[in-house]
Amino acid sequence: MRVLGIETSCDETGVAIYDSEQGLLGDALYSQIAMHAEYGGVVPELASRDHVRKLLPLVRETLAQARMDKSELDAIAYTAGPGLIGALIVGASTARAMALGLGIPALGVHHMEGHLLAPMLEDTPPAFPFVALLVSGGHTQLVRVDGIGRYELLGESLDDAAGEAFDKAGKMLGLDYPGGPEIAKLARHGDATRFRFPRPMTDRPGLDFSFSGLKTFTLNTANKLRDADGQLDPQSKADIAVAFEEAVVDTLAIKCKRALQQTGLHQLVIAGGVSANTRLREKLDEVVRRQRATLFYARPRFCTDNGAMIAFAGCQRLLAGQSNDLKISVFPRWPM
Ligand code: KG4
Ligand code: ZN
Repeated sequence: MRVLGIETSCDETGVAIYDSEQGLLGDALYSQIAMHAEYGGVVPELASRDHVRKLLPLVRETLAQARMDKSELDAIAYTAGPGLIGALIVGASTARAMALGLGIPALGVHHMEGHLLAPMLEDTPPAFPFVALLVSGGHTQLVRVDGIGRYELLGESLDDAAGEAFDKAGKMLGLDYPGGPEIAKLARHGDATRFRFPRPMTDRPGLDFSFSGLKTFTLNTANKLRDADGQLDPQSKADIAVAFEEAVVDTLAIKCKRALQQTGLHQLVIAGGVSANTRLREKLDEVVRRQRATLFYARPRFCTDNGAMIAFAGCQRLLAGQSNDLKISVFPRWPM
């Protein structure tokens, strides 16, 4: 089965073709980050307009990479939510129109299910059951995964997502959007012993998270160090970046260890934008070694938003016999 995947939930236009026998045949991605960086965050209306401009050219590019004609597609999967409504509608209506024209099914996929399954695109994929840490700009969740569509939420953030906290902390330090990769870069030059930030909700049982307090802590630490013009010296910025990153990564690692112990499972999957973070991967490598478990993650391109994860998740759903009616429905908020 050959599935075209379309991702337009936020600020990346992603298109890919996944073949259930041969794997990925084509994968094209356009990031709008440079456009939004000027405004310090994603501007929804600009995002929708740019998806309109880029989506069809990317579909053509992906078909060319796969050396295929669109008539050889068996189905189209698109991100139906959660995400920015205008951006979602661009992907959904394009997917539905193409599918109608080609006489093939179209299937709306949950964006976070795409992230969750993305590590399965790699050469040594995890096998069910496993524990997954989903860490993106909008979500921080620990999930027990027993199969496609068999997801049990073990814990989640009660306020900000980990990626959102990275982005907000980045803004406080005057870094470019998105803050996650910028903080990670800056943290390499920081002195990790200068500040110690809290590890929220690790002193009590449970698998939920909270990152909004860490954000306030970052703001207060930064404000104390600003000069008369409100500027921070470069070393203080780097020292705050490393203290913040260590606190987030440590908190995530403590809860991952707990989730492995609680479930008795020995495979940990990390997915979503923040799973690209090198420090998180290092810390979790230590955790799994001590728990006699194995860590799985996707290549960086497939950690952040992309079409391949949607093509893959859609293909798995279709192989399991799932389909949608013909309505063009999108869900800006949608629990998995
Ligand atoms: O999964 P994603 O591309 O989009 C959403 O579904 O939200 O995740 C984007 C998030 C942003 O908050 C970004 O700052 C964060 O992932 N991110 C990182 C890194 N790369 C991306 N956070 C920390 N370290 C990174 N290397
Ligand atoms: Zn995402």
